[in-house]
Amino acid sequence: MSAAEPLLEAADLHVWIEGSHILQGVSFSMPDRGVTALMGRNGVGKTTTVKALLGLVPRTGRVVFDGVDITTHPTYTIVSRGIGYVPEERGIFAALTVAENLRLAERHPKPRYELVHELFPELAARASQPAGTLSGGQQQMLAIGRSLLNDNKLLIVDEPTKGLAPRIVREVADAVARAAEQVPVLLVEQNLSLVRRVAGQAVVLDAGRVIHTGSALELLDDADRVRELLGVSRTVTDSSGTTAGAEGRRTA
Ligand SMILES: Nc1ncnc2c1ncn2[C@@H]1O[C@H](COP(=O)(O)OP(=O)(O)O)[C@@H](O)[C@H]1O
Ligand SMILES: [Mg+2]
Repeated sequence: MSAAEPLLEAADLHVWIEGSHILQGVSFSMPDRGVTALMGRNGVGKTTTVKALLGLVPRTGRVVFDGVDITTHPTYTIVSRGIGYVPEERGIFAALTVAENLRLAERHPKPRYELVHELFPELAARASQPAGTLSGGQQQMLAIGRSLLNDNKLLIVDEPTKGLAPRIVREVADAVARAAEQVPVLLVEQNLSLVRRVAGQAVVLDAGRVIHTGSALELLDDADRVRELLGVSRTVTDSSGTTAGAEGRRTA
């Protein structure tokens, strides 16, 4: 794969769920480095896009990952080509310990415990603690740690800050930033301060379509454009760690 080729390319993805046309031709590509933020108000199709990439929902269109057309591949093949996925619900087993959660994520003969424990020392310190007793931020670290255990080429992280307090959001931002130094990340996120901190590129969805792609910083520096695309008022676009409004406010 040449440097100029995208790591991931989605072309004209359509998804229908129970008769509703949820994705209406989503197309975007992401480079093989840095963080690409997938943004948009609640319910616009961000999670469905991620599931479509992974083959978790029936879709039409085309998905190319690392130079290979994976459109017709089953999810387990797609994932085993090197995609780590941290779903919105984090996918952690609450009753199992931190160590057990990590062990269950091992997919290769040489899981990268050194790397994971270096990035997230708390996971080593809390190895024997049940995952359900971790804070929201620590659970997110565990979820990200699980996918870093394997030598993935891409990490997809779906709204890691959803429902977390601003103080914890900063912890999660640190975790995402650390992960992004190791592997390119497709980050579904509505927290603008987190996007500002980690993302190079931004892809914005609305009503099942991509309505904007470009530099994340350029977008975030344009308050009018942010309001137009994300329906967020200026007061919540500052860097105070607040999210873009629980329901992704719409402009009239
Ligand atoms: N399993 C499902 N059944 C019915 N509707 C769904 C399902 N999954 C998603 N949707 C609908 O698809 C739209 C996009 O959802 P989603 O991709 O989860 O949005 P986002 O992640 O951007 O908040 C929403 O209107 C949602 O209600
Ligand atoms: Mg979602």
